[in-house]
Amino acid sequence: MNVLVTGGAGYIGSHTVVQLLNQGHSVIIVDNLVNAHPNVLERIERITGKSPMFYDYDLCDERSLDEVFSVHSPDAIIHFAGLKAVGESVEQPLRYYHNNLTSTLTLLRVMQRHSVKNIVFSSSATVYGDPDTLPITEAAPLKATNPYGQTKLMIETMLMDIAKTADWHIISLRYFNPVGAHQSGLIGEDPSGTPNNLLPYVSQVAIGKREKLSVFGNDYNTPDGTGIRDYIHVVDLADAHLAALSHIKDTTTYRAINIGTGKGTSVLELIDSFQAASSKEIPYDILPRRAGDIASCYADVALAKDELGWEAKYSIDEACEDSWRWQSQNPNGYSE
Ligand SMILES: NC(=O)c1ccc[n+]([C@@H]2O[C@H](COP(=O)([O-])OP(=O)(O)OC[C@H]3O[C@@H](n4cnc5c(N)ncnc54)[C@H](O)[C@@H]3O)[C@@H](O)[C@H]2O)c1
Repeated sequence: MNVLVTGGAGYIGSHTVVQLLNQGHSVIIVDNLVNAHPNVLERIERITGKSPMFYDYDLCDERSLDEVFSVHSPDAIIHFAGLKAVGESVEQPLRYYHNNLTSTLTLLRVMQRHSVKNIVFSSSATVYGDPDTLPITEAAPLKATNPYGQTKLMIETMLMDIAKTADWHIISLRYFNPVGAHQSGLIGEDPSGTPNNLLPYVSQVAIGKREKLSVFGNDYNTPDGTGIRDYIHVVDLADAHLAALSHIKDTTTYRAINIGTGKGTSVLELIDSFQAASSKEIPYDILPRRAGDIASCYADVALAKDELGWEAKYSIDEACEDSWRWQSQNPNGYSE
């Protein structure tokens, strides 16, 4: 397939581009590098021996996107591009609504104009808010609790309506907590500033960039009192997109599918696993709970297995080993 990957220079996008190229697909990336480093492109080439086409365009720029579709006639789109920091979305809601919604609307309009109607969208477990029951199935009530989550819900709502019209094939993948890095150590998560996610923070403590970790709450109703999440290896997550693409033509109604491991890991378990992988001690302080955090969140993954024939292969220990390889080989991320 000829696959256009929006946000393909980002964390999950770059790992998916590698898997696509390794499987013989051709790839066109559109990414304005608002949250990515251009060196990722050379790394992708080093891993795969192939270079994807790359356009440094903002997806909100309809004319430029139209030109990309005219030149490349993609068969399908994987739509990763978007801003993703929950805290930032609370501080800058307009920027988040504008970027995430306008870019998606522009993409969908251009797709329609060029009769390209196959799309896999990056949704998130954040659309379940604070879940009533665990594991979370796709039938759970949807209730976003911040502007970032609202953009995911709004986009899913648009996609649901569009999927009812002629010839569209649409799959939203609701990711749980992506972690890890490519086994080569050449690509990985490279947050700018203070990491928003736990594992990049832990690995920056391990490499000595940060003094210690803050664990927010050890009085949750969980076995060790710390929060539980479903950590999914980014290479498994990338493979879920390839599985979705290979089933996209069978998808005649809108599908939203959880992508996780189905297993929960606590903050303290994750720290233990990272200490074992890195042979470094991770000092941490226990602080009060953070507003808005939930105790436990993990996926029911039966639908992904039934409909896509996909399931996670990698463990949390392997994710920590791969994260540590990436961090220790690239202490400054993609910056040289
Ligand atoms: N990482 C997570 O924890 C997580 C969890 C659930 C869902 N998601 C979703 O998955 C997708 C990818 O996440 P990621 O972790 O790889 O994030 P990322 O920030 O690394 O990648 C997103 C990419 O989109 C690009 N981008 C943003 N706005 C753009 C625009 N208007 N035009 C062109 N490019 C633009 C950025 O430069 C970046 O390279 C996002 O939609 C995110 O919301 C991520």
